[in-house]
Amino acid sequence: MIAEFQIQGQDFKKAGEASFEIKNRLKRLGLPPVIIRRVATASYEAELNVIVYAHKGTIRVDLGDQGVEVKVTDEGPGIPDIAMAMQEGYSTAPPYVKQLGYGSGMGLPNIKKNSDWMEIQSEVNRGTTLRFRVNLNESQSRDR
Ligand SMILES: Nc1ncnc2c1ncn2[C@@H]1O[C@H](COP(=O)(O)OP(=O)(O)OP(=O)(O)O)[C@@H](O)[C@H]1O
Ligand SMILES: [Mg+2]
Repeated sequence: MIAEFQIQGQDFKKAGEASFEIKNRLKRLGLPPVIIRRVATASYEAELNVIVYAHKGTIRVDLGDQGVEVKVTDEGPGIPDIAMAMQEGYSTAPPYVKQLGYGSGMGLPNIKKNSDWMEIQSEVNRGTTLRFRVNLNESQSRDR
């Protein structure tokens, strides 16, 4: 395991801290900058979604056979329609969240763009598990 972080819902003051720490740990491991950037960008979006929508959550980062694997589990409202949530511009963020500069509906699409594989499992009124992987192998890894 590379790192594990607890995220508290509504804790906007700490927004981005976990993904910043993930970035630093990947740097210390000497991973290629392009890989680090993609993991950090996707992790940031996942971290923010836990802060904005969930009660609490955990971000876990592992180095697997294919690349960097991130698993974000939260206890929260869940996502009723995942296909809709994946669409660019779709957001249920309330006005105060938009005033803080979040809620453009670009987070999940951004995670998809920056990862080589992603999966969302969600149960309404229980929570969401988001997993994604950024491949280390150049030929399997690509910017989209
Ligand atoms: N962990 C989560 N729990 C519950 N709902 C979520 C979660 N993550 C995303 N969603 C739902 O999916 C929608 C789209 O998420 P996405 O991250 O793409 O956009 P956003 O968070 O609304 O805005 P942005 O990420 O651009 O600040 C959210 O508005 C919310 O309805
Ligand atoms: Mg988001």
